[in-house]
Amino acid sequence: MKKVAWRSPSNIALVKYWGKRGVQIPQNPSLSFTLESSFSEMQINFAAQDGFDLDFYFEGKANEKFKNKIALFLKSIEGDYPFLKNIYLQIHSSNSFPHSAGIASSASSMSALALCICSISEAFGEKLKKETFFQKASFLARLASGSACRSVYGGAVVWGSTSALPASSDEYAVPLPFEMHPFFQAYKDTILIVSASEKSVSSRAGHALMNTHPFAQVRYQQANENLLRLVEILKNGDVENFIRIVENEALTLHGLMMNSEPSFILMHPNTLKIIELIRDFRKQTAIPVCFTLDAGPNIHLLYPEKETIAVQKWISEELVNFCENGYYIHDRIGRGAMLIQ
Ligand code: PMV
Repeated sequence: MKKVAWRSPSNIALVKYWGKRGVQIPQNPSLSFTLESSFSEMQINFAAQDGFDLDFYFEGKANEKFKNKIALFLKSIEGDYPFLKNIYLQIHSSNSFPHSAGIASSASSMSALALCICSISEAFGEKLKKETFFQKASFLARLASGSACRSVYGGAVVWGSTSALPASSDEYAVPLPFEMHPFFQAYKDTILIVSASEKSVSSRAGHALMNTHPFAQVRYQQANENLLRLVEILKNGDVENFIRIVENEALTLHGLMMNSEPSFILMHPNTLKIIELIRDFRKQTAIPVCFTLDAGPNIHLLYPEKETIAVQKWISEELVNFCENGYYIHDRIGRGAMLIQ
């Protein structure tokens, strides 16, 4: 058998994708930081044969649930990748973060899968320039799991059509076409695990809530405006407005869920406690820490690299008390997906 392998990271959205139409087309553009230490690794051993067959192993163990999900996805793309009709795939996947960390692994694992499929396509003779290869991988990752399309690139990544970036598209993500202001380079993200339990609302159900949400149209408008502003901020290093937009986006996402029908409250009491402590710490120390949230109770604490010592000391002395089992993960902006030779 031949093999291909990719390492692909998770990402954290600063301007949130929440609401979709058609085949995973976002209702508004989103912008994320790609992470570095939180990643999935996927190796696919493959051989041409008559008909399609798949085995899937997650961290060494056969996993039927993931296998069925992946088989369904691969079936849906075989029109564009006909070699998938006659192939045996043996997939081995693992994550750098523990399964029980409450970190969504679909972005990292589905982007790794998309990259592997593109590499297999090359092995079957497709020749692509590097840029086109990644664009195709991002397109495929989007079909597998929306926000996964942002994970193939490093740094700050935009998915969804916006006048801020002429090359942007609803169908795949693009990296920022300029260097971020030095202030935001090597930005840190410590993930404070408030609860590692499974999410009470799947992102599929979450996006569907927006279809009938009374605030949907103003939300999409707001996200467009926040994205335009944030792109400028990443250029000019305006940290005050960075904090304002990033925290507003996180609370808007949770606000939308709270006033959806049905309604979901995904923050826990300790999420609010930590938010309060972050705002107090910022006021008292003038260190520009801020938070964002995924569709769950865990906090992503964002801060510039030069404040690492002070912030990590505070985390280990104070914030740790509000983390489940004292658990947190130090991460940072990363370089994007990597081929494993
Ligand atoms: O990619 P999905 O369908 O898992 O949705 C992701 C939704 C958020 O994580 C809440 C926001 C985002 O842009 O990543």
